[in-house]
Amino acid sequence: MGLVERTSSRCAGRAKAFKSPGAWHAAGFLAEADLSANAIERARRAAPAYIDLTSSNPTHQGLIFPVEMLRAAAEPYWFARRYEPDARGLLAAREAISRYYSGRTPALLVPPDQIVITASTSEAYGLLFTLLADPGDNFLAPNVAYPLFEHLAAAHHVTLRSYQLDESCGWQIDEATLLRAADARTRGVLIVSPHNPTGMIVQQPIAALERLGLPVICDEVFAEFTYRAPHTPPLAALHPALPVFTLNGISKMFALPDLKLGWIAMNVPAASAFGARLEILNDIYLGANSLTQAMLPALFEHGLAFTAAMRQRIRASLDAALAVLKGCPALQVRPPDGGYYLFPRVMCQDDEEALVLKLLERGVLVHPGFFYGCEDGTHIMISCLSAPEVLVRGLELIVETLTT
Ligand SMILES: Cc1ncc(COP(=O)(O)O)c(C=O)c1O
Repeated sequence: MGLVERTSSRCAGRAKAFKSPGAWHAAGFLAEADLSANAIERARRAAPAYIDLTSSNPTHQGLIFPVEMLRAAAEPYWFARRYEPDARGLLAAREAISRYYSGRTPALLVPPDQIVITASTSEAYGLLFTLLADPGDNFLAPNVAYPLFEHLAAAHHVTLRSYQLDESCGWQIDEATLLRAADARTRGVLIVSPHNPTGMIVQQPIAALERLGLPVICDEVFAEFTYRAPHTPPLAALHPALPVFTLNGISKMFALPDLKLGWIAMNVPAASAFGARLEILNDIYLGANSLTQAMLPALFEHGLAFTAAMRQRIRASLDAALAVLKGCPALQVRPPDGGYYLFPRVMCQDDEEALVLKLLERGVLVHPGFFYGCEDGTHIMISCLSAPEVLVRGLELIVETLTT
């Protein structure tokens, strides 16, 4: 059971109101939370068979990074194995990441000493929450998002204040709400571009970010998977004067979630204000394993062709999905700028949970919008990472169910 399946109700709040701790067992991470499976997860477990259109796990969807390439990338490590940790991560790995950013559009200059290697993007968020905030401080986060932030925030004793994504403008950031959400204890802004699950890519500088002047944490784990947008501009290139921490890793880019490697790329304002302290923080854990770091230069050198093939498959799947869903008047579907998800609005259906349970009964599993904090209207999340034939069959079931 993942984080999404533990989202237990429509009211799953961002900032949990903890009761006053009277006893040791009522304190600490999620101490007062309901950890039981939600109704959809219970129904899923009881369902005899269904088509799963919720998967974000490439290794379950036939997207397997070439084994020979992994073997070859790992081979040299075994013959020169010495544990010589570097608080920022192996230099050769940071150099490879630096080269990757110089090839992005627009190019981003991030020298290796402005990069810190972590065990995952999730760990990177945790480090940055600790680095930037004291307990009780807050970060601004999109009102609709993959439900990772609220757990990370709880784990680091910070809270999240929501800004809105405007569905009527392609889920762009509503700048007025961003400005309004900040208070005296706000320590940074979280941005996900391409955004999960709406597919929005930030393509222009955001004036409100400049007005706030706060550090920005930009999660670009889906950057390579563009669809409507020609590319994902690194947010740090759009806002060179703000401290920007760019997060990414190999779990999405190379479909290697099991090899556990992420990174934080700092622009000059971020590195000069926070780089030294971040290095010490990363040195506490040294979470990224040495083998995967040693493999990283070869993964970048040979693996981007696999990434391109994966991008082509996802684009073809999105094309096919949009063609099927076009025939369904009950759905308002927006072709995403990027990412691998569709997040259509379902018309004339008030109860998301009942809708998802009905779809499961008909043999297809999707997620309701409220798993992602979306409270305005009825939405479903469909992952187009799913194998293409399975995806189309599942979507046909959705269309059938919504039109009968
Ligand atoms: C937007 C986003 N960021 C980060 C992650 C986690 O990435 P990692 O595997 O590097 O921790 C996910 C996982 O699905 C995600 O959707």
